[in-house]
Amino acid sequence: MRCSVIALPVLAAATSVVARAPTPGEDGKYTISSSGIKAQFIPYGATLTNLFVKDKGGEDVDVVLGYDDVAYYPKDPGHPVYNSIPGRYVNRIGKGTYTIDNTTYTTQLNDGTNTLHSGTNNWSYRVWNVTAATDDSITFAITDASNSSQGMLGLVEGEVTYSVKGSTWSIKMEATSPDVKTPLMLTQHTYFNLDAYKNPDTVKIWNHTLHMPYSKRYLAADDGALPTGEIGTAAPNSINDFASKANLFLGHAQNDPRFAGNCGGGGACEGYNGYFLIDDAPKDAVVVSLASAYSGITADLRTDQPGVVIYSCNWMDGSADLKSTQGTADNRKVVRSSCVAIEAQDYVDGINHPEWGRVDKQISGPGQTYSWESSWTFGSF
Ligand SMILES: *[C@@H]1O[C@H](CO)[C@@H](O)[C@H](O)[C@H]1NC(C)=O
Ligand SMILES: *[C@@H]1O[C@H](CO)[C@@H](O)[C@H](O)[C@H]1NC(C)=O
Ligand SMILES: *[C@@H]1O[C@H](CO)[C@@H](O)[C@H](O)[C@H]1NC(C)=O
Ligand SMILES: *[C@@H]1O[C@H](CO)[C@@H](O)[C@H](O)[C@H]1NC(C)=O
Ligand SMILES: *[C@@H]1O[C@H](CO)[C@@H](O)[C@H](O)[C@H]1NC(C)=O
Repeated sequence: MRCSVIALPVLAAATSVVARAPTPGEDGKYTISSSGIKAQFIPYGATLTNLFVKDKGGEDVDVVLGYDDVAYYPKDPGHPVYNSIPGRYVNRIGKGTYTIDNTTYTTQLNDGTNTLHSGTNNWSYRVWNVTAATDDSITFAITDASNSSQGMLGLVEGEVTYSVKGSTWSIKMEATSPDVKTPLMLTQHTYFNLDAYKNPDTVKIWNHTLHMPYSKRYLAADDGALPTGEIGTAAPNSINDFASKANLFLGHAQNDPRFAGNCGGGGACEGYNGYFLIDDAPKDAVVVSLASAYSGITADLRTDQPGVVIYSCNWMDGSADLKSTQGTADNRKVVRSSCVAIEAQDYVDGINHPEWGRVDKQISGPGQTYSWESSWTFGSF
């Protein structure tokens, strides 16, 4: 008795002050949890593999895409950047060039005539280091050597911390470029299907609702999803309207003849793959709400970023397997338009559009710290 009374505080100190050695489970995934969430991660791409939240009946639902087998992530020929951190400069660089201090740099063209997610050897293909882990948080770090992504000079040190508390999943990133100025712009590329593909009526994403109350404006884009420079404003109920009211289906404009080519691809991309500006949102306001009546799950995004990419999974071709936590006996594949990626980030290709005033936010150098912060809060109805 006396012995254990004395020993207890020592044990408590050992678990709370000295972080436990970060170790993955037998399946290779690191698990963190809170009262409302269980989240799992792998070092490859600092990827979220599973995210269990409560549905309207209190059951756990795995609401993000991914694979059971962690060894498959590097092999996946589609590499959809499943819930990982692309970097050091996310999304497109128009025509594979940008200029810093009058010097023009050339990046790799890996997406038609543009650079996507920094070209090959991007951050979502690297095995990050786990630098800290507790029961409810995990930190991954990456050292990105100069020019390891062609045309992006200077060493960059990056770090992401994921944590969970109650029903909220928080994501915090920091990166520095101590030697020279370089493009620096990150996101967490999260793919959702809030029904975990179990809705017997539809596996398509169109019956999820999306509300983005501060996002009337969007970047008009060309056929390759590269912004043209023009900023559009969506009229109520028009194809790009998710601002005017709360319960618009993601597929509300399905019957609009422009829906089939709304995200380019020569008319082959149905739905969305574009950037919505977040204008005049109060601090800590919910800027994106995704919901589905089938599971009754809601997902609310808060972010310090000035906009968000919405991609409705047009290019998923039904070849990728679902996880064992998702789908039904009849449906085991990630079919076209069956998920939505929601990626808080700075203006796409803003580095090449000085008229938007984002260049200084997208280039970072000695003495500066790039930072990015978002959270998803889950609820049910
Ligand atoms: C870039 O070029 C312009 C025009 O030649 C010049 O005024 C400016 O000082 C240059 N900036 C830098 C950082 O070299
Ligand atoms: C990222 O890098 C990998 C490995 O070099 C490459 O296979 C992949 O195509 C790149 N991804 C993109 C979007 O360019
Ligand atoms: C992980 O840490 C090791 C040792 O410090 C380092 O050599 C390696 O480059 C790091 N990996 C990444 C992806 O930064
Ligand atoms: C960057 O790498 C490319 C090859 O990927 C090479 O052609 C180029 O010379 C390198 N640039 C510098 C400044 O090292
Ligand atoms: C599904 O969404 C479509 C619009 O895309 C709508 O017309 C239909 O009523 C919705 N169905 C249900 C069951 O909510």
